[in-house]
Amino acid sequence: MNYLAPSILAADFTCLGEQVKRLEEAGAHYVHIDVMDGMFVPSISFGMPVIRTLRPCTELKFDVHLMIEEPSRYLEEFAACGADRITVHAEACRHLDRTLDEIRRLGVRASVALNPATDLGMLEYVLPKLDMVLIMTVNPGLGGQKFIPYTKDKIRRLRCMIEEKGLQTDIEVDGGITLENVRGVLEAGANVIVAGSAVFQGDVGKNVKAFLERMGKSYEEKAGK
Ligand code: DX5
Ligand code: ZN
Repeated sequence: MNYLAPSILAADFTCLGEQVKRLEEAGAHYVHIDVMDGMFVPSISFGMPVIRTLRPCTELKFDVHLMIEEPSRYLEEFAACGADRITVHAEACRHLDRTLDEIRRLGVRASVALNPATDLGMLEYVLPKLDMVLIMTVNPGLGGQKFIPYTKDKIRRLRCMIEEKGLQTDIEVDGGITLENVRGVLEAGANVIVAGSAVFQGDVGKNVKAFLERMGKSYEEKAGK
């Protein structure tokens, strides 16, 4: 199944609660929450207080993307403030395996993100522990960037790796996704779509619905599985 996870990094923060409600009404599946620490990526976004405040505003699941160095230091806090899925960057974890175990121990879904230049081989041994892999389709740190075309091949290769291992792991794509290129990444094998500017610029409800319509069939349906 395909899922839409709009990134609130591009939302209007003066009325964040309402914006998230719009996402929910229009049928989005997750709220994608980008946490940046000014170290792993140059910018600083927001953290636990914002997530905690948003939690009672919606029933949508929280897809928390940690762009922070050594996220193991904060996993308990992110779980406590309402994360349903936590994505850590392979490049930011000294002990990735242990970090993933810790996320699972907290009862939260575990996911690993790879920057565009990071090899898929990083995932070889931990893939069975993952609910999802996030393939960055831009370099992390900023909304509104341009999709990097070679990442499509990476998505394809990851989908093959997952199938070869007989797993059902979700593949999320994040960065520069638009109504124009979303079909391409789905066809390559992604099934969780993050979109920031393409959802929050203009009418949020309309944009969500347009994405959902375009996302229609999943790769499984297409492959007749
Ligand atoms: C980039 C973030 C993304 C970003 C997506 O570092 O992880 O989630 O907000 O924004 P758009 O869709 O505008 O590229
Ligand atoms: Zn993100």
